[in-house]
Amino acid sequence: MSGIDDISNRRNLYGRRGSRLRGARRTTFDLRRDRFVALSGDEGEGIPRLSFEAPGDMWLEVGFGAGEHLVAQALANPAVTLIGCEHYMDGVASCFSKLEAQGVGNARVHHGDARDLMDAVADAGIARAFLLYPDPWPKARHHKRRFINPENLDSFARILRDGAHLRVASDIPEYIDWTREHVGPHPAFSLVSDTGEAWADWPGTRYEAKALREGRTPAYLTYERITR
Ligand SMILES: C[S@@+](CC[C@H](N)C(=O)[O-])C[C@H]1O[C@@H](n2cnc3c(N)ncnc32)[C@H](O)[C@@H]1O
Repeated sequence: MSGIDDISNRRNLYGRRGSRLRGARRTTFDLRRDRFVALSGDEGEGIPRLSFEAPGDMWLEVGFGAGEHLVAQALANPAVTLIGCEHYMDGVASCFSKLEAQGVGNARVHHGDARDLMDAVADAGIARAFLLYPDPWPKARHHKRRFINPENLDSFARILRDGAHLRVASDIPEYIDWTREHVGPHPAFSLVSDTGEAWADWPGTRYEAKALREGRTPAYLTYERITR
């Protein structure tokens, strides 16, 4: 496989990247990355494209952490191809282990910036998207790093098909309000639900477990892509 790490450097990407794996662990990581790869491109050209054709619907998870939700959704929805994006190497390695241990065949992983993956998706190519416990970037000068922003919302609007749901969960009241303030008025989205009750098919995530342990109350927001 070639060029993917290069592709992922076109925009500023903030947050932890994780350990630099070496030796046998790096070899295992690379083999698994090739097996589950979601994005490829011509080296030097820097134009990413999906490296596979999904037989049915594709669902996208941005920032899957260690992949608990991605793996559970893939197992529960065998006719769907789950595409997960994460730039934290330890999380991606952990997700690969889960995918292999559970024998998941309907998931693809992009180790890198979700925005590159989103660029490679055709208009209306995604049937559901998840943004679960996104990094809150609490300092005002870092708000522009938040994944919910006008550019990324336009990108979600482009790749989500009519009627598709965008699910957002957060335990940070200020980020929940930020989501309401940014997605609510966007012309491509309408609010379906905004509640303290998780979705019926919700397996939980590592960050949610931490939030609950520490006494924070999550919110679960669902938006629908309005018909074009
Ligand atoms: C707070 S963690 C939540 C992880 C997981 N969703 C959970 O609920 O346990 C946010 C994750 O999003 C990832 N992330 C942030 N921006 C990203 C981007 N542009 N592309 C891919 N992953 C991203 C971070 O590396 C981090 O692991």
